[in-house]
Amino acid sequence: MKILVIGGGGREHALVWKLKQSPHATQLFCAPGNPGIAELAECVPIAANVIAELTEFAESQQIGLTIVGPEDPLTQGIVEQFQEHDLRIFGPNRVAARLEGSKAFAKSLMAKRGIPTARYAEFDNYEKALQYVRKQGAPIVIKADGLAAGKGVTVAQSLDEAEDALTAVMQRKVFGEAGTRVIVEEFMTGEEMTVLAFSDGHTVKPMIPSQDHKPVFDGDRGPNTGGMGAYAPVPHLQHHLPEIQSCILEPMAAVLRDEGIVYQGVLYAGLMITAGGPKVVEFNVRFGDPEAQVVLPLLQTDLVEIIDAILDQRLDALDLQWSEQASLCVVAAAEGYPGPPVKGTPIGLPETPGDSLQIFHAGTAEYDGQLVANGGRGLGITAWANGLTAAREQAYDCLEQIRFPGMHFRQDIGLKALG
Ligand code: AMP
Ligand code: GLY
Repeated sequence: MKILVIGGGGREHALVWKLKQSPHATQLFCAPGNPGIAELAECVPIAANVIAELTEFAESQQIGLTIVGPEDPLTQGIVEQFQEHDLRIFGPNRVAARLEGSKAFAKSLMAKRGIPTARYAEFDNYEKALQYVRKQGAPIVIKADGLAAGKGVTVAQSLDEAEDALTAVMQRKVFGEAGTRVIVEEFMTGEEMTVLAFSDGHTVKPMIPSQDHKPVFDGDRGPNTGGMGAYAPVPHLQHHLPEIQSCILEPMAAVLRDEGIVYQGVLYAGLMITAGGPKVVEFNVRFGDPEAQVVLPLLQTDLVEIIDAILDQRLDALDLQWSEQASLCVVAAAEGYPGPPVKGTPIGLPETPGDSLQIFHAGTAEYDGQLVANGGRGLGITAWANGLTAAREQAYDCLEQIRFPGMHFRQDIGLKALG
């Protein structure tokens, strides 16, 4: 079967790398892909959100299965478009993707089923939001309702900071229409964990939990990024999984069904493990990035078979197999990230043993045969081994051999589990 992956980051490189191992994948395409992906699949120069062209391509090439990486095309309705053309595609439809596209929608669904999450209020009126924030006091969390490339959240430690965030989002519209409505949330404390789950709308099967590292600097300091590294599994928080399954994942699939939504795809639960148990920070409607880079190498069941089972709504009959190993990914970011990154810096890569380490490409490009930085998160160096310590050593040893001007990375990926 011909398979098309949509997207061009580290997550999509990991997806293509995994799919390459499937006997069901006779030919792989990726739109738009990146130089790392180009070693495994044919890259097609169509951006991930140009849905009409993607549909045309999939039709003309008789693509048997399309897998969507990023949220944008999902929230724009790529799944319905493909289905209208009788094309098989993996991901939630536009209505279901509102779970990520609108924080207010996600919160209202959680409230309906009592899914544990931060207390909140929602506002489309600036004065009322301001009054509420002043009454609640700091620390407090301000979130733009819509998609803001992961930057729409302010965890305000002071009232001044909270008021600035409200003004920026609602009045100066720094995130555009995404900030027409805001969510004001109770501040939660605890360690964060990601649980990705496969869902066919009726059965929800969690993958191995992982932990992202969002702030740019060691010790979780500095501004938030898309994620500077991850590891899986998360041994010290693993015992919360049954509660996450029964109190968060299954109720979410159920409340979606109540709304008439059969959720087919990957359900991403971003969690805070508070003193009162796991609570939802956010839901996303796709694989996490960099979480996919650490979870997929541990997956032993054929990914194409899982997706087929989801699309045929027989996930309940499938047993997911996972490796007993641990994996860890360190992101090598370009100068300037998470602000505007410096592009065009040449990158040299070492030879790597493919069976226990992969350098997943994210923001890279190739000019005249030279690999260069072309985005914020350049590479995800991912290793897997017997035990997190060994995986960590392998990833950082490889990173020692990669240097490009301005490159930066966190030194402490995985230490929360080893500490
Ligand atoms: P989000 O984009 O919703 O995942 O939020 C980005 C980050 O902000 C999360 O990974 C948390 O570290 C932090 N955050 C979001 N909501 C809260 C909250 N209610 N309390 C504390 N921290 C939060
Ligand atoms: N790593 C965070 C995300 O994928 O949303």
